[in-house]
Amino acid sequence: MKIAIINGSLSQQSINGHIANFIASQFPADVSSHKVTISDLPLYTQDLDSQSIPSYDRVRTEIKEADAVLIVTPEHNRSMPAALKNVIDIGSRPYGQGAWTNKKVAVVTASPGTFGGLICSLQVRQSLQMLNANILQAPEVCLGRFNAVDEQGNITDERSANFLKQFAHTFIDWVKKA
Ligand code: FNR
Repeated sequence: MKIAIINGSLSQQSINGHIANFIASQFPADVSSHKVTISDLPLYTQDLDSQSIPSYDRVRTEIKEADAVLIVTPEHNRSMPAALKNVIDIGSRPYGQGAWTNKKVAVVTASPGTFGGLICSLQVRQSLQMLNANILQAPEVCLGRFNAVDEQGNITDERSANFLKQFAHTFIDWVKKA
């Protein structure tokens, strides 16, 4: 079983990247995961649909070949980060060949701010719903006031770590269901 992980943050220090690593570390041995690179994707326009763009081909294939996609992302200005919207748009086209159709997807957001990226989470779900993705409805993981990552990338808050462990198991159980 293959899980593709998309981090909406392009930051080298991304706390969401550390959270993604932690969740992936909880997956059972028969589940493999890999991070999808989105930093090299040109901004999408439908004018590019008739061209072969290697990074577009790669990311569309990575989404299509995955049994599920895990999106772990910050919120930017009460919205989803532009890089994340870009990969969602790229995966949605060419029209009729969308990679998101029926794809199992879970969304995790985290922020040092109060609301934990809740608005971003809702927006990502809204886009994926329109694309007919199969979205994990619960638990909604929006970690607010989150700064519990040390310099080695460990989750230092036991409550958050336990919640993320529980989420990882729920997510994989759901993906394994036909
Ligand atoms: C932010 N941040 C932020 N946080 C939040 O909770 N709601 C928001 O709307 C925003 N807006 C926002 C815009 C921009 C341009 C940046 C760079 C940041 C703060 C953000 O949550 C914080 O920088 C996190 O560390 C981002 O997660 P990563 O990149 O570390 O994974």
